[in-house]
Amino acid sequence: MAHATKRIGILTSGGDCPGLNAVIRGAVKTAERHGYDVVGFIKGYEGLVDPVTYIPLNGKNTAGILTQGGTILGSTNKGRFAATVGVQHRLELDPVLMAGVQATYEQLGLNGLICVGGDGSLAVAQQFHEYGLPVVGVPKTIDNDLSATAFTFGFDSAVACATDALDRLHTTAASHERVLVLEVMGRHAGWIGLYSGIAGGGDVILIPEIPWTFENVCSKILERDQQGKKFTLVVVAEGAELPDGELVTAERRQDNRQTRLGGIGNVVAYEIEKRIGRETRVCVLGHLQRGGGPTTFDRVLATQFGSHAVRLVIEGKFGEMVCYQPPSIMSVPILAAVNKLSRVDANSSAVQAARALGISFGDTADLAGPFGINKPAVAEVEEAVIETLASLGTDVPLAAVEPMPVEWEAAAAYADAAMW
Ligand code: F6P
Repeated sequence: MAHATKRIGILTSGGDCPGLNAVIRGAVKTAERHGYDVVGFIKGYEGLVDPVTYIPLNGKNTAGILTQGGTILGSTNKGRFAATVGVQHRLELDPVLMAGVQATYEQLGLNGLICVGGDGSLAVAQQFHEYGLPVVGVPKTIDNDLSATAFTFGFDSAVACATDALDRLHTTAASHERVLVLEVMGRHAGWIGLYSGIAGGGDVILIPEIPWTFENVCSKILERDQQGKKFTLVVVAEGAELPDGELVTAERRQDNRQTRLGGIGNVVAYEIEKRIGRETRVCVLGHLQRGGGPTTFDRVLATQFGSHAVRLVIEGKFGEMVCYQPPSIMSVPILAAVNKLSRVDANSSAVQAARALGISFGDTADLAGPFGINKPAVAEVEEAVIETLASLGTDVPLAAVEPMPVEWEAAAAYADAAMW
C-alpha cells in the first residue's frame, strides 16, 4: 500500500542510559522540520510485532524531555529479539518475527527505523538491514565500548555519577583511615573505571584490559601508608577479571544470554583485609550510573545523534550507524561497529597520565615510575608488605619481594630530583 505520509519509526533498546530522551527529541524535531511523521515503538523491538505497540511522537509530547533520564518509550534488555550473547556469539532472529516486522513496516509506511541501542541491539538492527528493511543505528551505552565512535552518549553521565561517588567516598575514607572500594559498571571495557578513577582522585584502578594482582593492590595501599596517606580509594570495574582469570558474577551462568556481573568489589575488599589487615569498605554503584538526567556533554551528543540519524534516513543511508569522530558527527556501517569492541588501550595517554600521577592499575608496570622512569620507592613498600604479612602470618607474595634492580638506583635519584 502506498502511503502519502513520510514516516520514521524510532525505538530504544537494551539497558537504558541518560540521553535516550535527548536522542528522541533531537530526531523528532529534525524529522518534523523536514516533513516526516515520527512513531515511537514501545519497549524496544518488542513494540514492532505481536502486538504492534507505538505512539505518535511530535514536538508537543517530546517537549521538555531533553533533560530527563530513562526513555519515554521504554526498553527491553532480554526479549524476543536477541541477536547476540557475548561479543562474538551471534544468534539468528526468528524468521516469523522478521516477517512480522516487515508487515509492520508496510502497514505503517515506515521510510526508515532508527534503532537506538548498544552492541546487542545494533546487532539486531544489522539483521534487519540484511533482511532488506531500512534501518539506521544510534550507539548507546554507558560502557562506551562500541567501536567506531569516540564516545557513546550516557558514558559521560555515568562517569559524572561515579566521580561524584568517589568525591563522597574520599572524605569518609580519609576520616576513618580506611580503604574504600568502589565497584563501577563496565562489562568488557574499563572506560568508566578509568575516567572516574582519574576524575575522582582514585589511587588504584582495576579494569578488564589490564591484568592485576592482589599483591600489587596491597603494595599500593602500603606505599600510601608509608607516605602518610592512611586511606586509599580503589575503583574496580565489574568486568575486571580476577588474577586467576575468573569473572565475578551476580547469578549463575545461563545459556543464550549474558550473565549478570557484580560482586568483584567485595572480593577485592575481602582480599585486602585478609592480606594486610586494613579496614576496608565497599560501595557498589550499580544502576545509579544508568539513572538520572544526562550531563551537558551527553545532551549535546545525543541531540546531534538523533538529528543525524534522521538525516541518514532522508538521504537513504541505511545500514549505517551514526558516530562521533571528533570533531564531526558522521556514520559508519553498523556491521563495522558491532563486530569490534572499543576497549581501553593499556598504553593510551589517559593510562600513561594516570600512572605518571602514581595511580596503580594493580600490575607490575606500576613498579616502574612515570614516563618509564623506574621509580624505586617500592623497595621500602615491599619491606612494609613483608612485615605486615609476616605479622599476619600470611605467605609473602613472591612478585612483591624481588630485590630492587641496580639500574633503578640512578633512576631513583632522578625521580627524587624531579619531585616524583
Ligand atoms: O551494558 C551496560 C551495562 O550497564 C553493563 O555495564 C552492565 O553489566 C549491564 O548493563 C547491566 O544490565 P542489566 O540492567 O540488565 O542488569
